[in-house]
Amino acid sequence: MHRQLNTPHHVNAPPFLLPQPTSSICRPPRRHVALPPPAAAMDDKGDLGNRRCDERSGERVDGQIKSEAGRAYWEAVEPTVNGILGGIPAVPGFQSISRIDLQGSRTLLARLGIGAKAGRGRVASALDGGAGIGRITEGLLLDVADEVDVVEPVTKFTDALRGKPGVRTIFNVGLEEWTPADGTRYDLIWTQWCLGHLTDRQVVRYLDVCKTVLRAGSGLVVVKENLSTSGVDIFDDTDSSVTRRDETFRRIFAEAGLRIVKTELQRGLPETSETRLFPVRMYALKP
Ligand SMILES: C[S@@+](CC[C@H](N)C(=O)[O-])C[C@H]1O[C@@H](n2cnc3c(N)ncnc32)[C@H](O)[C@@H]1O
Repeated sequence: MHRQLNTPHHVNAPPFLLPQPTSSICRPPRRHVALPPPAAAMDDKGDLGNRRCDERSGERVDGQIKSEAGRAYWEAVEPTVNGILGGIPAVPGFQSISRIDLQGSRTLLARLGIGAKAGRGRVASALDGGAGIGRITEGLLLDVADEVDVVEPVTKFTDALRGKPGVRTIFNVGLEEWTPADGTRYDLIWTQWCLGHLTDRQVVRYLDVCKTVLRAGSGLVVVKENLSTSGVDIFDDTDSSVTRRDETFRRIFAEAGLRIVKTELQRGLPETSETRLFPVRMYALKP
């Protein structure tokens, strides 16, 4: 078990929420920073704290993703909000990360006319892709949708969701293997902080599948992911995932035949003088 350590100084944040130095992930090494090891900058061997990152310029790095390795990483994580968010909530100053994230998502949906408040519409059916413990299902989707399906490969994460009112079908598979149930139509498919475990081709295929089950005309896919700002996509072998650039996401969406109807950066993410998170962008997509 290499992941779950208890104190903030040992939080082993996976790269989806990797704290990075305030200027750039490629700064010279700072090996003794007070915040979690991942806050240390990458050194000249590409060693970021205790993790190896690959930023080979111009090369596709998604071919290095090994889904079994990603799965093994998550199997060792405790099924809590702190675990699922890489220990970030335990870092002083970052306790509110989940609340802030969910509020940003709620605001995006409200701007798209979806919500529980007057003047906005609830929807019949939503899907939480790569749902983890159902943080988004419970904190966002069940407020706006009558029924929510969940795709999450790690069964222990979804155990507590079984039988919850509004939670319909739980698919314990990876998004790259997911086959929707016959006849299901989704008004909203939310996919957050998990596409880094899929290769570009697998993401295109997943989005293609999403298109086949979206409610015609009104159905929306929302992708919410970290962005690399270092000019290249970044592979991290700690959890075998890739952090993509905005350009990569846009190319993937175009390949999948989806257009961006709204996109926003998550606002208000916590930040300290030593540590900040990758920027997080939301893309609302339609065929
Ligand atoms: C950072 S957590 C995010 C969970 C949830 N989306 C949230 O924001 O709370 C990443 C999740 O992706 C899941 N995951 C890993 N590989 C996956 C795959 N191939 N397909 C779907 N989900 C995957 C992990 O098991 C984990 O639950």
